[in-house]
Amino acid sequence: MVTVTFLVQVFALGTAATASQAHQLQDGCTSGVPSGITLGRSKNLTIENGDKTRKYRLHVPKSYQTSVPVPLILSFHGRDKDMKFQEELSQFSNSSYGFEGISVYPEGVPNENGAKQWQGDPDAPSTIDDVAFTLDLIDELLRNYCIDTSRIYAAGKSNGGGFTGLLACDKKASRRIAAFAPVSGAFYLDPKTQELPPCNPTQSRDAIPIMEFHGFKDNTINYTGGLNTRKNANSTDVFTWVNAWARRNGFKNSPTVGDLCGQKARKVTTYNWSDTVVHYNYTNLYHDWPSTFPNGDTNLTTCEDAEATKVILKWFSKWTLGGHVG
Ligand SMILES: *[C@@H]1O[C@H](CO)[C@@H](O)[C@H](O)[C@H]1NC(C)=O
Ligand SMILES: *[C@@H]1O[C@H](CO)[C@@H](O)[C@H](O)[C@H]1NC(C)=O
Ligand SMILES: *[C@@H]1O[C@H](CO)[C@@H](O)[C@H](O)[C@H]1NC(C)=O
Ligand SMILES: *[C@@H]1O[C@H](CO)[C@@H](O)[C@H](O)[C@H]1NC(C)=O
Ligand SMILES: *[C@@H]1O[C@H](CO)[C@@H](O)[C@H](O)[C@H]1NC(C)=O
Ligand SMILES: *[C@@H]1O[C@H](CO)[C@@H](O)[C@H](O)[C@H]1NC(C)=O
Ligand SMILES: *[C@@H]1O[C@H](CO)[C@@H](O)[C@H](O)[C@H]1NC(C)=O
Repeated sequence: MVTVTFLVQVFALGTAATASQAHQLQDGCTSGVPSGITLGRSKNLTIENGDKTRKYRLHVPKSYQTSVPVPLILSFHGRDKDMKFQEELSQFSNSSYGFEGISVYPEGVPNENGAKQWQGDPDAPSTIDDVAFTLDLIDELLRNYCIDTSRIYAAGKSNGGGFTGLLACDKKASRRIAAFAPVSGAFYLDPKTQELPPCNPTQSRDAIPIMEFHGFKDNTINYTGGLNTRKNANSTDVFTWVNAWARRNGFKNSPTVGDLCGQKARKVTTYNWSDTVVHYNYTNLYHDWPSTFPNGDTNLTTCEDAEATKVILKWFSKWTLGGHVG
């Protein structure tokens, strides 16, 4: 890894005309596609982080050109799942959704029961700093790929969704990640205080955009909060969590409420604060990633307008670190 980084830097110094140009153009835009990477084909990779070797799966689209900056999506798996499962679940690599950026599926470290997971879960090893890992991973990706630094996004399912929320609450991560989309997020309360962990996003942005999706029938991370299925922690009421983000982003008003997918069993109620904080509540859904076709989570499908992958991609495309550009 050290050797690769060194070579990339030498290459960047050798080609960049001035220091300021080198600063504007990420190293990853002046080097070629890293060896071993095939456009349009996903690959498992590793990065050294602290004393750990951490895994991630990467997908660079066929349309990628080494000097044109593209968006980056980080997609975090649920507890006891892995990076490949998350790629298949969240579908950001699937060209039929039209995302022309790089998608990366980081993998959590196994806990003592062998379940891979993320910081924020009560069983996650306290020695592991997944926020630091994520920030290091972003740096590694910027060194090797041509990424638009104002269009880096995070999404995740369940524990990975809870972790996406922690990134949004982190001073450093919220300066680098443009928008956050937890799906069936596990937002755990601190067992001692029975409150959510402190949330201190950067003050240097006008808003921290948040989009959350949750099944009203979720019996793993209950919509109205309470004990999880392992009974080792309470999660918060989801609408309270969403509402707290609206307040944090300065909204004093109620959201615009709408509905999708018809009025019966499939109804989805939408809550929208100026496209900045958005929440979809699915009448028929359990602990799932809402999709129009059966996926690794479920065979219960939703309508196209409420398909999480599609809705997230459209919404991400309207946000940069600089604000709403839709
Ligand atoms: C990539 O990692 C996944 C686990 O996320 C594993 O199932 C798969 O076998 C790995 N693929 C290769 C080619 O090693
Ligand atoms: C890609 O998405 C389409 C729907 O847009 C789906 O039919 C297809 O199965 C997906 N491909 C994979 C490999 O998951
Ligand atoms: C969620 O918790 C509430 C309150 O305990 C309970 O009434 C409801 O049945 C639970 N819902 C699911 C889907 O488990
Ligand atoms: C969950 O919340 C209930 C009610 O507030 C509390 O009595 C219980 O101790 C909590 N359980 C855990 C594991 O935090
Ligand atoms: C939220 O509402 C705005 C209007 O304030 C609209 O432009 C936007 O499309 C809505 N977002 C979603 C995800 O429905
Ligand atoms: C969520 O959807 C359920 C089922 O349609 C509905 O009863 C509930 O009022 C909705 N909204 C909230 C905030 O719970
Ligand atoms: C969907 O999954 C449930 C539970 O796993 C199963 O009982 C049912 O037969 C499945 N339905 C279809 C249409 O595959």
